Amino acid sequence: MHVRFQYKTRDELTKYNSPVRVPFLDLRRQYTELEAVIDADVKEILSTGAYVMGKHNRGLEEEVARYQGVKHAIAVNSGTDALRIGLDALGIGAGDEVVTVAFTFVATVEAIVQVGAKPVFVDIRREDQMIDPALIEAAITPNTKAIMPVHLWGQMADMASINAIAKKHNLYVIEDAAQAIGSTQGGQGAGNFGQVAGISFYVTKNLGAAGDGGMIVTNDDTVAETCRSMRIHGMGKERYYYDHIGYTSRLSELQAAILRHKLSKLDEWTAMRQAIAAKLIAGLEGSGIGLPVTCAGNNHTWHQFTILAPRRDELQAFLKEREIDSMIYYPVPLHYHAPYKHLAPKGSLPVTEQASLDVLSLPVHQYLGDDEVAWVCESIQAFYR
Ligand SMILES: Cc1ncc(COP(=O)(O)O)c(C=O)c1O
Repeated sequence: MHVRFQYKTRDELTKYNSPVRVPFLDLRRQYTELEAVIDADVKEILSTGAYVMGKHNRGLEEEVARYQGVKHAIAVNSGTDALRIGLDALGIGAGDEVVTVAFTFVATVEAIVQVGAKPVFVDIRREDQMIDPALIEAAITPNTKAIMPVHLWGQMADMASINAIAKKHNLYVIEDAAQAIGSTQGGQGAGNFGQVAGISFYVTKNLGAAGDGGMIVTNDDTVAETCRSMRIHGMGKERYYYDHIGYTSRLSELQAAILRHKLSKLDEWTAMRQAIAAKLIAGLEGSGIGLPVTCAGNNHTWHQFTILAPRRDELQAFLKEREIDSMIYYPVPLHYHAPYKHLAPKGSLPVTEQASLDVLSLPVHQYLGDDEVAWVCESIQAFYR
């Protein structure tokens, strides 16, 4: 039995005067909405034996390319692989430096290290927790090959500034768009700013598979061809002839089929998230927390609704008592962890380090009801009163 879904009884809830339980996500409901079509596809795939590199992979690639407004989409096994293969296809490796952030999911940095390059951390902006373009140039050395901004929480990093620096210093830009399918800046989606971008379909993402999955998106024909080859061991056009050292990174047809059905719902689900985020912002105004800031030109898809909360840990415990889930992304900056601590000393990224103490992500999934949103806002207002 899953503890996560053990709802308290009405009596227990009444003890805290809690009218509702507010879960962080409701993945079962996504399935319920699409149950008939997903079940039909799963049955067909299992009965035909076409488990990999089939029509659903091709269909999903076409549909995601169209959705992101890019020329190429290459399905892989995870967002991490999308980034690793993207970096590798650009020839980034030993001796190269990649400028990025320490305030991200570990996979950003893992991908850089795993291709043999060195991550160089710069600090973030307090207001949106993304890379601070004003600090990038100071981190560039003769070994710098690329900048890897992370489009965090469902909105995009300041790509005009980042691309201007990249152009000036002749650097590649790899977009970590793991959290940013459908997000745009100036009307353009990830994959249109850098040479290559990596999207994640991990279960909890706005477009989540029933397991792992990812997509490389790019407008560059050569990079696309290399990535296509690298995801199946570097194989060329002819079977068992190899052009590159590659990876095992196929997306299962089952996942591709599920993702296609969910993609057909994504605009509707995003609009629901945006409406909920607007209600949260209105209801939390004046509470004393730092509200999420949507940067000019961005279409925010609200993968996370992340606040900056004074006495964050106390607030989280208070919300838990009231049956409101919340998450801390990310509680410890990456340069504090054993495998990455040689990359930057503690204290060298003050905004990142402070954000790790202040951030709290509140539920913003598309199925939240008005009563749940009201309970979250009322509870946070009550905590700071
Ligand atoms: C910012 C960021 N980068 C990379 C990844 C890696 O994606 P995946 O878990 O699909 O490998 C994730 C998500 O998990 C992420 O949030």
